[in-house]
Amino acid sequence: DRHLLGIQGMHPSRIEPILDLAESYALLNRSRKTPRDLLRGRTLINLFFEDSTRTRTSFELAGKRLGADVVNMSVAQSSVNKGETLLDTAATLNAMRTDLLVVRHSQSGAPALLAQKVDAAVINAGDGTHEHPTQALLDALTIRRHLGRLEGLTVAICGDIAHSRVARSNIHLLTSMANKVRLVGPPTLVPRSMASLGVEVHHSMETGLRDVDVVMMLRLQKERMSGGLIPSAREYFRYYGLDQRRLDLAKPGALVMHPGPMNRGVEIASQIADSDQSVIREQVEMGVAVRMAVLDRLSRGGRS
Ligand code: CP
Repeated sequence: DRHLLGIQGMHPSRIEPILDLAESYALLNRSRKTPRDLLRGRTLINLFFEDSTRTRTSFELAGKRLGADVVNMSVAQSSVNKGETLLDTAATLNAMRTDLLVVRHSQSGAPALLAQKVDAAVINAGDGTHEHPTQALLDALTIRRHLGRLEGLTVAICGDIAHSRVARSNIHLLTSMANKVRLVGPPTLVPRSMASLGVEVHHSMETGLRDVDVVMMLRLQKERMSGGLIPSAREYFRYYGLDQRRLDLAKPGALVMHPGPMNRGVEIASQIADSDQSVIREQVEMGVAVRMAVLDRLSRGGRS
């Protein structure tokens, strides 16, 4: 494919080669021996209409490690503030002969819309509540590295699922590879209707975490909630926070994951985030490797 817009509908036979390539980039990154010429002469623009630390920085590093010219467009200081539309912004960047356009936007579907209008390969870096495909790929790579496989696992995704593009991309990826996914959270944030995605829905951490291989925690996305429905941090942690007692319900050595940014003491106890079971830092490391693999594949038109 020319673009990476989502995981939904992506067959495992297209996901696994990306993970294999990312694994080789992870090893090269550790030995600081990344090839600097693959994307030489290509231009990558990071176009982020929402805040980001991990995704934006790792796409920048990934592009630079492969030799691309990388431009971080600062939307806050752009002509978007003067009323220029998303599509006119894209047409402007297109006229500058951009090869790779990495887009984060608050509206679900914005990157797909851009993909129809520009010549560049478009990568979805998170759109509204829809998808965050590179996050699911880096999560999958982290799981595979630790558990040695990516099938037959039980993964609990806990917290604010309703607003989470990370959850949606992970659900698509994990279920397509014959894993069991449990969504765990309060009914306001994990509606029963989400079971239609081929997952179990649990409203209690005590049932949801029992015997799982992986516990994936999510932040409360207050920016996507309406005022009255925002739970207090103390109350939320009491019922849905990950602490040692709840983690002990999972399989011994279960992985603790979080896409970040974390709110310590709200969805996860600080000591769990920093414990030996936590692979949160490795997720960030794999983020660079996965994004290098994605840029590599897209620069070859999706062929290996
Ligand atoms: N996980 C993630 O997307 O983090 P950022 O918002 O910091 O990019």
